[in-house]
Amino acid sequence: MLRALTLAALLFAAPLAADTPHLEKRGHATQLVVDGKPFLILGGELGNSTVSSREAMKAVWPKLQAMQLNTVLAPAYWELIEPEEGRFDFASVDGLLEDARAHRMHLVLLWFGTWKNSTSSYAPSWVKRDTRRFRRTTGADGRAQEIISASSAAARDADARAFAALMRHLREIDGDKHTVLMVQVENEVGFLPFAREGGTGADPAADERAMASAYAKYVETVAAAGRREYPLPMYANGAQGRPGVKPGDYPSGGPLAHLAKEWRQGAPSLDFIAPDIYFPNFGEIAGGYVKAGQPLFVPEANRPPDAHLVANALHSIGALDAIGFSPFAIEDADAAQAARIGALYETLGGIAPLVLAAQAEGRIAGFANPVSFAGEADLTPMTATLGEAKFSATTIDPWTARDAQQPASHGALLIWLGGEDYLLAGQGVTVTVEPTDGKGRLGFERVEEGRYEDGQWLPGRRLNGDQTHQGRHVRLPPGEVGVQKFRLYRY
Ligand code: DGJ
Repeated sequence: MLRALTLAALLFAAPLAADTPHLEKRGHATQLVVDGKPFLILGGELGNSTVSSREAMKAVWPKLQAMQLNTVLAPAYWELIEPEEGRFDFASVDGLLEDARAHRMHLVLLWFGTWKNSTSSYAPSWVKRDTRRFRRTTGADGRAQEIISASSAAARDADARAFAALMRHLREIDGDKHTVLMVQVENEVGFLPFAREGGTGADPAADERAMASAYAKYVETVAAAGRREYPLPMYANGAQGRPGVKPGDYPSGGPLAHLAKEWRQGAPSLDFIAPDIYFPNFGEIAGGYVKAGQPLFVPEANRPPDAHLVANALHSIGALDAIGFSPFAIEDADAAQAARIGALYETLGGIAPLVLAAQAEGRIAGFANPVSFAGEADLTPMTATLGEAKFSATTIDPWTARDAQQPASHGALLIWLGGEDYLLAGQGVTVTVEPTDGKGRLGFERVEEGRYEDGQWLPGRRLNGDQTHQGRHVRLPPGEVGVQKFRLYRY
C-alpha cells in the first residue's frame, strides 16, 4: 500500500517536473528545453519601470512583436508584490503573463528583491523603514546606505518568503503553460563602495571573494526557497568592472566570471551566472563566462545605435553556444533600430531549429572580430573547421570602400548542414574555403540566398558571377542580415 501510494505520488508529480522548462546538456551544448524542445531566446529586456503599468505596456507589446522577439525579460517587483508583510498581490505579475500570452511571447522574470544594482530600492516600504530588523550597510562617510547587509538573516528570510510565494503563484498560473521560461534572482548584486561590507582590507581580491560568498549564500536561500515551489531555471546577472578598477569602485562580489567558483559553491540552486555586457570587449567578457564553465545567456547588452548588436549576438550563439541574447531597454528602440533588431531576430527565428541542432552536435561556428575594452578591433581573418572544410572569414567587405564600412560590426554564424552543405547567416562577412586534408581544392558548387519559413527553405537568387567573385568566395553584404546556403565540391 505504501509503495503504491509513493508510486502514485511520484506519477502525479512527474509531469510537472519533466515538462517544466529546464536546462539540459545536449551533446556539446547546454540548452534551454521548453515543452520537450530546445529553445533559443531571442530576447529583449524592458526598462526597469515600464512593466509597473499595464497601461504603459499597451503600446510596447506591438513593438516587441514587430522586433520578432520570442521572449521578454521583465522585472517582478518585490515592492508591488508584497506591499504589507505577508500580504501578496500578484496583479502586476498576472497582467504581465496574460499580456505576454496574448502577444505570443515568453517571459524571463527578473526578481527585483533585496538588491537591484547594489541598492535595496525595490524592497517594500515595510522593509525599507525597519532598519533595525533589516540591517543596512555603512558608506565611506560612515552614514547608512540604502543597501541591506548581505548578512541580514531577517532580510534574507523575508526575501526568500516573498520569492517562494512568487514561484508558488507562477506554478499555479503557469505550471502547465510555460509562459515564464527562467527567473533571474536579484539584479546585478555587488557591494559599493568597498570590496567588502565594513571596508576594504589589505587584500581587496580576498575581500571581494568573501563578499561574493556572502552574496551567493544569501541568494542561495532565496533561490532554493523559490525552486522548492517551482523549479524553473534560475540565474544571477553580473555588472562588469572596468579593467584596472578595484572591487568596491565597481559592485564587488557580484556574479562575475572570476568569482564563478564562489558563486557555484555558495549558490548551487542557481543554474548559472550571466554577464550583462555594455563594454566593447563583448567577446572577451562572454568568453570568460564560458571558460568559467557557465552556459552563456546574455540578459543585458547594448542595443542599436551600438553597431555591434548583430556581431555580438551571432558570435554568442555561433561561437559560444549561447541559449539566448537580450539587448536592454528594448522598448526604447526607434524605428530604424527596431528594424535592425527585427531583421536579426527574424533570420535567427527562421534558422533556430538548425542552430540548436548544430550547437548540440558541434556543427556551428561564429565570426565576429575581437574588440578590446578601448574599442579597437582585431580585423585578422578568422578561421573555423567544419566537416572537411577549413573556412577563413573576413569582416572587411571586399566591395565596399574601407572608410565606408565598420568591419567590427559585421558578423556571421556558419552551420555545417551535413555532407557538403553549409549555411551562412549574418552581415558583412566573406568566406573562402580550403580542404582540411590539403588534398586538392574546394570550390562552391552552388550558392543560394533565401530564408526559412516554418522550417522550409525558400530560395531567392542563385548567386554566382560577381556575387561570388566568380566562384572564389561566399559573401554576405554589409548593411542587412542575410542567409545563404552553399554546397562545396572538391577538385
Ligand atoms: C544594468 C541594470 O541591470 C539594468 O537594470 C539597468 O539599470 C541598466 N544597467 C541601465 O543601463
